Amino acid sequence: MAQRRANDAERQTTAPAPRQPYPDRAATIAASEHFLGSESGSMLRSLGADIIIGAREGARFQDAFTGEWYWNMHCNGGVFNMGHRNPRLVQALRDALDHLDVGNHRFTSGIRARAAEKLVKSTGGVHAGVAFNASGGEASDLAIRLARAVTGRKRIASIKGCYHGHTGIAISTTDLEFSRPLGGRLPGFTQVPWDDLPAMDKAVDDRAAAVIMETQPSSRGFLLPSEGYIQAVHRLCRERGALLIIDEVQTGMGRTGTVWSWQQYDIEPDMFTSGKGLSGGVYPLAATVMSKPVYDYLHTYPYGQICTYGGTEIGSAVLCELLDMVDHPAFLSHVRELSRQFTEGFKGAPFDYWTRGLSGGIGGREPRWAHEAMRKLFENGVWAVFSSFNKRALQWKPVLIMTPHEADQVIAQVRTALG
Ligand SMILES: Cc1ncc(COP(=O)(O)O)c(C=O)c1O
Repeated sequence: MAQRRANDAERQTTAPAPRQPYPDRAATIAASEHFLGSESGSMLRSLGADIIIGAREGARFQDAFTGEWYWNMHCNGGVFNMGHRNPRLVQALRDALDHLDVGNHRFTSGIRARAAEKLVKSTGGVHAGVAFNASGGEASDLAIRLARAVTGRKRIASIKGCYHGHTGIAISTTDLEFSRPLGGRLPGFTQVPWDDLPAMDKAVDDRAAAVIMETQPSSRGFLLPSEGYIQAVHRLCRERGALLIIDEVQTGMGRTGTVWSWQQYDIEPDMFTSGKGLSGGVYPLAATVMSKPVYDYLHTYPYGQICTYGGTEIGSAVLCELLDMVDHPAFLSHVRELSRQFTEGFKGAPFDYWTRGLSGGIGGREPRWAHEAMRKLFENGVWAVFSSFNKRALQWKPVLIMTPHEADQVIAQVRTALG
C-alpha cells in the first residue's frame, strides 16, 4: 500500500473525470443491474474487483467514486493497446468530426480506401484486400462465410476454449458454455484441443472448409504454441484444401512485437481478422483481411458483405493515423523492449509468466488461482483479468506505449501483491 501511495503521489494526470449521471456508486450499480442485460460488472464485483471507470489516461484509469487509480493490464483485449485517450488518436477523431460523419457504406470513399490500403500494406504483400466490419464477431462470421463459399465445403474447426465472437456463426466456434443457453452450436462445427496436432490432423479432412484459430488463445491466457505447431496447422490446411483463418483481434496491431502475430511463423493465412485495437480505443472498427483468391471471390459478389457501420469514414480516419503509428519502427522495438523488462521484472516470482511480445499471461497451479490473484492485484492498483477458459491464468496485456518507468512501477506493485 505504501508503494502504491508513493506512485499515486507521483502521478501528474491531466485527465478530467467524466461527469457521472448517477449520484453515487450504489445508484450506478442499481441502474446498471436493472436496465442492462448481461451486466458483467456484477461478476467482477463478486470476485472483489469492483470498478466503475471514471477518468482515464495512458496506461491507467480511475475509479469514478473512490478516486483510486489502476494500471490497465487487460486493455479490454487490446482496445487500449495505445493507451486510454491517446492524444494523437483523439486528435485524429476530433479532426475527422470537423468534416466527416460515419459516411455512407454504399458510397465510394477515399478515406475508407486509404485505411484499407494501409492495412493491406501492413501485411507485406501477403494479402490483397479488406472488408470492414463493426465488430470482431462479424469479422469472424464473414471469414467463415467466405471460407465455405470459396471451398464449397461446410466444416469449420476451431480450438477448444477459444473465442471468436458472439455473432450468429462465430458463437459456434467457441465453448458450449457460451452457445448452449442461446440455441447451441450450428451443424458443421468441431473443436480440437490447443496444440494437439494429431487432433487437428483428424479434423482437417476433405470436408473441412477452414480452421479458425489464434496464434495464442486469448481466452486460455495467451498460451504459447509449441515450436512448429502453427506452421504444421498451416501445412495441413494447404495440403487438404482448407483455408486458414487467423484471429488477430487480440494478438494484432503490434501486440506480439510484429504488426500481426502470424508474421512470426512464416505462414500466409488465407484470411485474418482484426478488431478491438483497430479502434484505437476511440472509434469502433473491425476487419477481415483476405488473400487474393478469397478477395477475388468477394469482389465478384457486390452483396457478399454489407455492414452499415463497417468502415465508417470517422473510424477510417482514426485507423489511418493508428496504422502510421504502428508502422513506425520505434513502436515495435518499444514493444519488444517492454517485453524484456517484464520478463526480467518477474524473474524469481512465485508465479509463472509467459509472453510473446506483450501478449502473455501470469498463472499459478491452483485451479482458481487467477480469481484470487486478480483480487490481490486490484487491491494493489493493478487491473488484470482472469482468462474465461483457464482460471489458472490472468491475461497479461500491458498498454503497448507505457514508459519503462511506468512498467517498473507496475512490476513493483505486482511483486507487492503476489510476491
Ligand atoms: C480473440 C477474439 N476474437 C473475436 C472477438 C469478438 O470481438 P467483438 O466483441 O468485437 O465482436 C473477441 C472479443 O473478445 C476476441 O477476444
